[in-house]
Amino acid sequence: MKWPWIRRRRCQKEADRLRQRLDELKSQRDHAREQRDRYRLRVSKGEGSKPTDAGEIDAVSSALAETTARLEKALVEREEFRVLHREVIKDLELAEANPLPLDLDYPLPSSDLLWRIGGMRAASSYLQVGETVKRDLANFCQMVDRDITKFQSVLDFGCGCGRVLRRLPDIFPNARIYGSDVDGEAVQWCEDNLPFLAGTYVLPEMPPSNLKSDSLDFIFAISVFTHLPLAVERAWLEELRRIAKPGALIVLSFMPDTAAAEHFTPDMAVKSEDGFSFYKTMPIPELPEYYHGSYHSDEAMRSVVGEQFDVLSIQTRAVNDHQSVIIAECPS
Ligand SMILES: C[S@@+](CC[C@H](N)C(=O)[O-])C[C@H]1O[C@@H](n2cnc3c(N)ncnc32)[C@H](O)[C@@H]1O
Repeated sequence: MKWPWIRRRRCQKEADRLRQRLDELKSQRDHAREQRDRYRLRVSKGEGSKPTDAGEIDAVSSALAETTARLEKALVEREEFRVLHREVIKDLELAEANPLPLDLDYPLPSSDLLWRIGGMRAASSYLQVGETVKRDLANFCQMVDRDITKFQSVLDFGCGCGRVLRRLPDIFPNARIYGSDVDGEAVQWCEDNLPFLAGTYVLPEMPPSNLKSDSLDFIFAISVFTHLPLAVERAWLEELRRIAKPGALIVLSFMPDTAAAEHFTPDMAVKSEDGFSFYKTMPIPELPEYYHGSYHSDEAMRSVVGEQFDVLSIQTRAVNDHQSVIIAECPS
């Protein structure tokens, strides 16, 4: 729990340094302005008719321009710092508001990797969401009367940099745990930092993957089917069916269509039909071009997942009080 405070102290030091630098630059700029105005006055009074004065005005003006440019650069630096500072404050608020045991059993991913999975660079959000979703997953299994200690092989489909994956040994003590994602750098991070993993897979943008057929007891995907166009979703559901053992449990989070209105206006939809809508979001260069925002009504999700699996339950906004979840079983 100490690390947010340490970050805040570092930020404070950086703020002091920037403030000092800005003061220095401002006083240089004011000095240059005064010099320029003095020369201008002399020239306007006819006292500066000598060619050297005109030259001096040029020299002072260019010194002023240079100082102003440096000042502007420092202001940009300060703005960037302010953004970082706001994130640290958010970190602290989260840590204080939600005193979950923060797991630092494994290292933390880079802020770029954190950004890619959650749009936040704050590590406390990564740790807290992981902890909460782990408990949610255990609840979902219980809801459909599955004894999770019996699962032998578990796959986090679209694991990113391990937000949930890193917590899995707590709830699946007897399982071989695998991570997979299209983001090779994130998968490599998991491979390098989560020693309990039985294996990792870098997935192609479209199936097939090199995961074995009929090999998994439990497959889950958090915040993955919230980003795929319908054709891509169908292709991956078919692939999940191939790699799941008969009787395997499948848990997939999805964004309820009611949430679309909170983020977009209807005219922004790229596609909208039968309870499914798709919206363009900011592209993430490291992820497939098709990766944007998708929303399903419960019926639409039931229908598309039902093409491959037997649907057991849908729970509204049950993942981290945010996304909905569909729980299904692979037919025997
Ligand atoms: C919002 S992040 C969630 C990551 C992780 N499940 C979590 O909850 O921390 C979505 C993840 O889906 C991955 N992804 C995107 N397209 C995918 C696909 N076709 N198959 C598997 N993963 C995919 C992204 O690379 C990203 O890591």
